[in-house]
Amino acid sequence: MHGLFTIEGFGRHVPDRVLTNAELETMVDTSDDWITSRTGIKERRIVAPGETSSDLAAKAASNALLSAGREAADLSHIFYATFTPDAFCPPASCILQEKLGIRGRACVDMNAACSGFLYAIEAARGTLALRPGSTVLVTAAEVTTSRTNWADRATCVLFGDGAGAIVVSDREPKPGQAVIEDVVLKADGSLWPLLTVKGGGSGWPMKLGDTIKDEFFIEMNGPEVYKNAVRSMGSVCEEIVEKNGLVMDDIDLFIPHQANLRIIEAVGKRLKFSGNRVMVTVDRYGNTSAASVAIALADAVAEGRVKPGARVLLTVFGGGFTWGAALLKFV
Ligand code: UT7
Repeated sequence: MHGLFTIEGFGRHVPDRVLTNAELETMVDTSDDWITSRTGIKERRIVAPGETSSDLAAKAASNALLSAGREAADLSHIFYATFTPDAFCPPASCILQEKLGIRGRACVDMNAACSGFLYAIEAARGTLALRPGSTVLVTAAEVTTSRTNWADRATCVLFGDGAGAIVVSDREPKPGQAVIEDVVLKADGSLWPLLTVKGGGSGWPMKLGDTIKDEFFIEMNGPEVYKNAVRSMGSVCEEIVEKNGLVMDDIDLFIPHQANLRIIEAVGKRLKFSGNRVMVTVDRYGNTSAASVAIALADAVAEGRVKPGARVLLTVFGGGFTWGAALLKFV
């Protein structure tokens, strides 16, 4: 029997630079009206030149440690969800460890595309079950704009950069902290071609002098991803709620992956969540991939959206396809 899985602290960081829909109108054949009506996105944050995924993660992690009342030295593990690490090697988690000023801890990057945050949370739970007393930093940090094709209007208007982080341990939760009650994870590899970032991988190698092609960047069949996202997030939420002997009315706040307001509303409609029971950040950050739910969770806490005793349902969906849900209970 495992012990507690407690989220002691929440943090996030987004870059200062705001990229508005009006600016995008000057870059590609698009309009504020199209982007707003099809996606709900008004603006997104993008990194400064030279700013990396681990730079964002380090700031989010420092904020999470501060909120937990902990020091980086307390950490035993760093689990880092991203599809945009600083480099293929070394792991961004190792660079993050160095930026946090610690050494000798276990570090690993995890790529489950936009679903990576929940996969990393589940890995933290597994680690705590196996090694009680661990203190795990779970972070999700993306510079999606490093893989954005600014000539492709179908994708470049959607994404943004940012990072979220939590500190997970098996200590008794204090007020303002949350217990992870359950996580359910899914994937269907048969659908991988619908959302890809191929170039530079071993299946699409590049050699010196090659010209960078479209395959180096995010490529997506938007309508197919849309349909699967609604269906998959809806069903995994129903599964986790039922599995835990709950009903949707028991959920105080729903925090879905922030890819598109229409997707959020469609899943919300299926599950009967609306109004202030749904956390929405996609309007201001766009789709920050693995970081999206991590950022939205930290914002929900910072904005006082979760009261003591609140039960929160997280759900994610991304390339692979991968998807999942998690149940949190605040103390
Ligand atoms: O993080 C997980 C992965 N991502 C997602 O979950 C995203 C899922 N998909 C979506 O959010 C939506 O499918 C999109 C926002 C990507 C697209 O919305 P849509 O309503 O499915 O539009 P569409 O792809 O069917 O395109 C409709 C029209 C097309 O023109 P025609 O063929 O009807 O003349 C596109 O060429 O809109 C056009 N279009 C644009 N027009 C202006 C596509 N992108 C743009 C644009 N500005 N940026």
